[in-house]
Formats: sequence, structure tokens, C-alpha cells
Amino acid sequence: MTPTPHAPEAPHDLIGIGIGPANLSLAALAHPLTHLRTAFYDQHPRFTWHPGLLLDDATVQVPFLADLVTLADPTSPWSFLNHLKDRERLYPFYFAEHFHVRRTEYDAYCRWVADRLPTLHFGHRVDAVRWNPEHALFEIDFTRPAADGEAAPPGRARARNVVLGIGSEPHVPAPLRPLAADPALPVLHAADYLTHRDTLLAAGHITVVGTGQSGAEIFLDLLRRRPTGRERLHWIGRTEAFAPMEYSKLGLEHFTPDHTRYFHALPEHVRDRLVPAQWQLHKAIDAATIAAIHDELYRRTLHGGWPDTVLTPGVHVRTAGRLATGGIELHLEHPRQHTRTRLTTDAVVLATGHRQRPLDRLLAALAPHRDRAGRPRVDEHFRLTLDPSVTGTVYVQNAELHTHGVGAPDLGLAAWRSATILNHLTGGQTYPLPARTAFTTFGLRPRTPQAPPTRRAARLTPLAEGT
Ligand SMILES: Cc1cc2nc3c(=O)[nH]c(=O)nc-3n(C[C@H](O)[C@H](O)[C@H](O)COP(=O)(O)OP(=O)(O)OC[C@H]3O[C@@H](n4cnc5c(N)ncnc54)[C@H](O)[C@@H]3O)c2cc1C
Ligand SMILES: NC(=O)c1ccc[n+]([C@@H]2O[C@H](COP(=O)([O-])OP(=O)(O)OC[C@H]3O[C@@H](n4cnc5c(N)ncnc54)[C@H](OP(=O)(O)O)[C@@H]3O)[C@@H](O)[C@H]2O)c1
Repeated sequence: MTPTPHAPEAPHDLIGIGIGPANLSLAALAHPLTHLRTAFYDQHPRFTWHPGLLLDDATVQVPFLADLVTLADPTSPWSFLNHLKDRERLYPFYFAEHFHVRRTEYDAYCRWVADRLPTLHFGHRVDAVRWNPEHALFEIDFTRPAADGEAAPPGRARARNVVLGIGSEPHVPAPLRPLAADPALPVLHAADYLTHRDTLLAAGHITVVGTGQSGAEIFLDLLRRRPTGRERLHWIGRTEAFAPMEYSKLGLEHFTPDHTRYFHALPEHVRDRLVPAQWQLHKAIDAATIAAIHDELYRRTLHGGWPDTVLTPGVHVRTAGRLATGGIELHLEHPRQHTRTRLTTDAVVLATGHRQRPLDRLLAALAPHRDRAGRPRVDEHFRLTLDPSVTGTVYVQNAELHTHGVGAPDLGLAAWRSATILNHLTGGQTYPLPARTAFTTFGLRPRTPQAPPTRRAARLTPLAEGT
């Protein structure tokens, strides 16, 4: 396909901010649509996907079919299988029978796509998005941090529409922020684990806080690297248990467009109750990782004795401080047991999760409409609700957990969401999408209007002869 030439000064039809898997998927699906002028910006110098957690054995928690494009367009040249073909790895992959590929492999695939798509611009940090009513265009201001630390002159791009895919940022609980901010202390977020693993392993006693998947993978990695009987590891977290992630076939149907539509149509207060109640769908630990941890601990008991490890869920880190002796003191609470204690440790890994990057920093000038909790309103086409005078559209990807449910960050819905956005943008069925995606029917859908109560009463079976 020969791309349609565009005048260099022509505004873009769509500018994407952030190039994680979500917007990379959209950029890949937009690539063959040569009538669309698109550009995508990311602050990093190149594509990266949670690099601090690219542990050798860790696998992606969705099958490889949930790549950037396949679930919207299996014929796309940007599929994982085409990446393997390009790398001459199709046959080994075929015999390996890996439905869940390694995280490093998924990262390499995304980099393969990112290196080839001409619409991507790395090293561009977007600072603000404004609406210019005179030209009916969005103005996107960016800076280009240079390698030597000096920023290039700021730039501006113009677009009719914008899609935000700015993802999440590491969450450090407030009591631990002063310690994590001190570069002299080995207190770090899981997102930086691999960069600092050697420093951590040099510490006498290590504590991992957080019993989600990141905490589990880091605990296992540290455990495997410590000598038997001298592990000196604590693993604690607020979650009630080292709980397995829901991975039953029907449970996984919560990650379908059908569930997304059902969830979006629920009242706000119901949605807000549902997300935390579904925690085992999006938090918790993959059962294979739990098994690997148990195996490793068990192996260490084979010649007698117990490993020098403490694994306690349901524990809250209330406060923390630095001791004069150089150690770190964590003040712990077990709310169920009503007990408190202090733990002295030499290094801490905070596997305490991520939070959506706030949109406010970028969108202050657009003042998106907000719900009762102050979060942006997002409609079924992934559009932010803006003042009607703004005739362009701001779409969001992975900023809609509160409106679209647990599937929002899931890689398995990325291609469908990208296609939904492109269909809306192009006003057609550019990517035909299935009407039905789950065996589960979420919610009741009355086929006929409800009968009035009097008529229904007349049809009831009599309770007894003659009544
Ligand atoms: C460790 C980890 C593992 C995960 N594994 C899985 C998994 O196996 N399966 C699954 O379904 N989900 C997984 N997730 C959840 C989710 O799918 C991923 O977090 C995924 O990276 C989300 O993609 P994204 O594009 O929305 O955001 P991100 O990957 O966070 O990318 C956002 C990008 O936006 C850029 N950016 C932000 N602000 C600006 C700005 N102002 N200007 C320019 N660029 C900006 C950032 O630099 C970043 O590159 C995982 C999450 C984590 C934390
Ligand atoms: N291999 C992979 O593909 C892979 C690897 C890593 C992560 N992931 C995915 O990435 C997402 C994030 O996972 P995550 O493990 O980083 O985060 P997470 O699931 O949000 O877990 C964070 C953990 O930290 C705990 N915590 C937070 N503050 C605390 C405090 N003050 N004291 C004690 N504990 C505290 C949380 O407890 P509460 O439950 O009480 O908040 C929870 O146990 C998940 O969807 C996960 O599946 C995937």
C-alpha cells in the first residue's frame, strides 16, 4: 500500500500521547488506514514495557493471541506470529507449545513493532493539551529532553483528535515515601527491581511488601538467589491471603467486550462497589507462581530444617523509619488480629502496585466533565466528556477502570479497544467487531416489556384447588 502524501503542516487526524502497549496497538491498527494522518509521542527514548520486572521466567498473563492486533485483525502484519516469522522463530515456537509467552518475549515483540512503525516519536514528553476554538484543533505542547539533560526547544503539534495512553505509575504508600526518596537507602519500588537487584542481594535481610503478582515474582527471584537456610527474607502484604488469580474459563469472560459493555451501563455507585469486589480478577497471584514459590520453599526443607523466611499476608505497613544503626524499621499492623509489631530489615522492595497516571496534568485546559468522585466521565466509545464547544474528541486507553471495569488495563482487550476507537473515528466498520464475545450473559435483558402486576397475578398457578 502506498501511503497518501500529506502536506507537512497539515494537522493530524489523531495524535496519541504515550506509547505503551495500548497506544502501540492503536498505532499498529491505524497504520494501514493511509487516509488517516496519525502521530504518537512518548517521553522515553525508546519503547519499554515495565523493564524493572522483565524477569527471565515471568510470563505474560494473557495468551499470545492477545497481541497488539490479532483479536481485532488476525491478518495484520503486526501480529506476534508475524514477528516470529520475521525472526525465523516460527518453528521453535510451534514445537514449544507456549500459549503464554515470556514477558521478555512480549517486550521484544512490542519493540519489533515500535522500531518499524513510522508514526511513532520517542523522546517527546507531552506537557499540555489545549483546544484552539478558532482553528477547531487540539494543540499538543511537547518538550524533547536531550540525552545530555538539556531540553531541545519546545514543540507543538496540532490534531483534530487525541488519544491518551499514558498508563500507570508506581505507587509508593505515603509512610514509605521519605525512605524510597532517599537514594542512600535500599528502599525501592518493584518497578526498579532489576536495576537494583545486586544491591538488594548484598543486604543481610530483605523485606518484600505487597502480595500481588509483582511481589510474588520478586520474592521467588530473591529466594532462588539466596543460600538454603540463610534466605533471610520477609514477604508481607495487606491483601488477606496469598490468593490465586481467577483463571477459570468463565471467570476470564470478565475480560470480554460483553462484560465491558455490561459494566459501563451500570450506575456509578454499583460500578464502584464491583471493582474492589472483583479483586481476584485483577490483583492476586497467578497459581503457577504460587506453586513455584511453594516448590522452592519445599526443596529447601529436604535435608531438614525450615527456610529462614517469613510469609505473612493481611499485614499493613503503617509507618517506617531509618535506624541510627543504618537499618530500616517497618511498623506493622495486623488489623484482623489487632496486633502491632516492628520489623528491622536492611532492604525493602515495595511491590505495592501502580496507579493510573492522572490526566489532570495534561488536560487542565480542557476541564473534562467529572463524576461524583471527581474522575473523568468516559463514554462507551472511550471518549472523554468535554464541553460541547470542543468539537474534537479526546479518547482514552487504560484510564477507564472506573467506567469500563477490570478489563481496562488488560492486554487482552487492547486490540478490541483500539479498533473500537478507530471505528468511531472513521465513522464506519473499519475493523468489524464481533457482536458477542462471551458464553456468559452479563445481566438480565428482558425481551418483552414487563407485564403489569395485575395481569401477572392472574396467570399464577393457584396455590390450592378452588383458590
Ligand atoms: C509489571 C506489570 C506487568 C503486567 N503484565 C500484564 C500482563 O501480563 N497481562 C495483562 O493483561 N496486563 C498486564 N499488566 C497491566 C497492563 O496491561 C500494563 O501495565 C500495560 O503496560 C498497560 O499499557 P498502557 O499502554 O496503558 O500503559 P504503559 O505501558 O504504562 O505506557 C504508557 C506510556 O505513556 C508514556 N507517557 C506517560 N505520560 C506521558 C507524557 N506526558 N508524554 C509522553 N509520554 C507519556 C509513558 O512513558 C509510557 O511509555 C501489567 C502491569 C504491570 C505493572
Ligand atoms: N508476569 C506478569 O505478567 C505480571 C507481573 C507483575 C504484575 N502483573 C500485573 O500487574 C498488575 C499490578 O500488579 P502488582 O503486583 O504490581 O500490584 P497489585 O496487584 O496492586 O498488588 C499490590 C500489593 O501491595 C499491597 N500494598 C499496598 N500498599 C500497602 C501497604 N501500605 N502495606 C502493605 N501492603 C500494601 C496491596 O495490598 P491491597 O490488596 O490491600 O491493596 C497488594 O497486596 C496486576 O494486574 C498484575 O497481574 C503481571
